[in-house]
Amino acid sequence: MPKTTVQDFLKKKAEGRKITVLTAYDYPFAQIVDEAGIDAVLVGDSLGVVVQGLENTLPVTMDEMIYHTKMVSRAVKNALVIGDMPFMSYQSCIEDAVRNAGRFLKEGGAAAIKIEGGSEVADRIRAMTRSDIPVVAHIGLTPQSIHRMGGYKVQGKSKSAAKKLLEEAKIVEDAGAFSVVLEGIPLPLAKEITRSLSIPTIGIGAGPHCDGQVLVLHDLLGLFDRFVPKFIKRYAKLKEEALKAMLEYKKEVEEGIFPSEEQSFK
Ligand code: KIV
Repeated sequence: MPKTTVQDFLKKKAEGRKITVLTAYDYPFAQIVDEAGIDAVLVGDSLGVVVQGLENTLPVTMDEMIYHTKMVSRAVKNALVIGDMPFMSYQSCIEDAVRNAGRFLKEGGAAAIKIEGGSEVADRIRAMTRSDIPVVAHIGLTPQSIHRMGGYKVQGKSKSAAKKLLEEAKIVEDAGAFSVVLEGIPLPLAKEITRSLSIPTIGIGAGPHCDGQVLVLHDLLGLFDRFVPKFIKRYAKLKEEALKAMLEYKKEVEEGIFPSEEQSFK
């Protein structure tokens, strides 16, 4: 299978084929995501919550993101690797934003970055694109804005908020983003944005009409259960499976069943 490129994203939209994206944060899971033929692996700052056990994504640092992106890039042969810009890696000034985005490509081995925000980050998106750093924008429910939003709340519900989000989507497209994540917005608005843009929309909690879909891997696999938003679909129960295996291991060691002669050197 050939390596997925930014152009493949645009081609898939033009041809009406859905784009699949999953997060991954380490070598073994990134390898499985890649083997499954998923188009892109997002090294999301959601790792703060599902891997580091934090309350939200705000404390995640650039160095931590690069550390995880390196592991993922080592495993991935075909998917497009996208590094996620953590909180305060791009907000303070354009120079910092471009330098930090560049680290994902230069040190992390990613092929693109994702940045949260609309018009307020349009100048960053423009500067990154000019520096040959492909950008995925992210609008709607942006988890790094948790304090401004007052929690993880669906965005764009009123007529004026919906109009503003449609405008924001066009602004990030004009700034040079090659794709945009739509998170936590009503289905009709996601449909309207998807219809209005020439770049692909990737939905999460945005209904079935986006050009593609992204999920947090630990949600899809049933590895994370601290909270389960409405838009999650669990395709496996890995936590239960892992627990079962560990309980069996504990029992067998305690009862002298494992290791047996079979697992011993003679
Ligand atoms: O950090 C992340 O994993 C994300 C996706 C949920 C879009 O931003």
